[in-house]
Amino acid sequence: MTPFLKWAGGKRWFVHQYSHLFPTKFNRYIEPFLGSGSVYFHVKPKRALLGDSNPDLVNTYNGIKNDWRSIESLLNHHQLRHSDDHYYSVRDDELPTDPIERAARMIYLNRTCFNGIYRVNLNGKFNVPRGTKNNILLKDDNFEATALLLKRADIVLDDFEALINKAKKDDFVFADPPYTVRHNNNGFIKYNEKLFSWSDQERLARSLIKARSRGAIILSTNANHESLRELYENKGFNFLDISRYSSISASSSSRKRFEELVILTHPQDRSK
Ligand SMILES: C[S@@+](CC[C@H](N)C(=O)[O-])C[C@H]1O[C@@H](n2cnc3c(N)ncnc32)[C@H](O)[C@@H]1O
Repeated sequence: MTPFLKWAGGKRWFVHQYSHLFPTKFNRYIEPFLGSGSVYFHVKPKRALLGDSNPDLVNTYNGIKNDWRSIESLLNHHQLRHSDDHYYSVRDDELPTDPIERAARMIYLNRTCFNGIYRVNLNGKFNVPRGTKNNILLKDDNFEATALLLKRADIVLDDFEALINKAKKDDFVFADPPYTVRHNNNGFIKYNEKLFSWSDQERLARSLIKARSRGAIILSTNANHESLRELYENKGFNFLDISRYSSISASSSSRKRFEELVILTHPQDRSK
């Protein structure tokens, strides 16, 4: 099952290359930085607690869970009317108050905006211009199956710490925060109007360390940077260095290599 949204920092590539790192047996699945949920849709857990701090995102998941049919028919309507005029009026008119219309709006903009990534500015306003893609309903869409899976999940608008604090023995926590490193005052990555600061990284490490001591299974991805490694060192975690090439360009000369770090509680080859 593939995600129905495209998201900055999406982990589809990780699922393709590293799914052997996911435990096969666990109780509840907990994902506190949901984004497009690439790992969740791959794992398809029986019980899940999913969360994100982006209200539009959480509203969209709950919309699909509760009324996918209405969202699909609203997307059909957007498909019929799709044009410059329609795109910019959906983007700039007042936000719909109805949560289902609001969810359809988000999927519509996510699929048609420039570079296909839903971003808001510092005032929380979506301001990305129209992109080149015109398909609003995609052949891989299966909102019914997505809704059935989401019925087995609680999906909440909350800070990551509240979710990680709920992890008990044998729950599986997958944590993929926005990447920030220490001493990088200008380079914070912005996903929302709120920054993910270095003190958030420290708070995340503290909550994952506590969850581990309660017996939760942890897998977290982050930037491969000494400052991050130090937060988890000698706390019972294993590290795995991984790299990937960005898919921004097809020509090898302009493809960029990114180093990332996986922080995990279990031996790397346990579930191979
Ligand atoms: C790197 S993205 C996750 C991408 C996801 N793994 C995927 O495959 O699409 C990080 C997410 O964390 C969310 N986020 C940022 N700060 C947060 C916080 N304090 N608590 C919960 N979620 C937060 C952002 O809204 C964003 O969706």
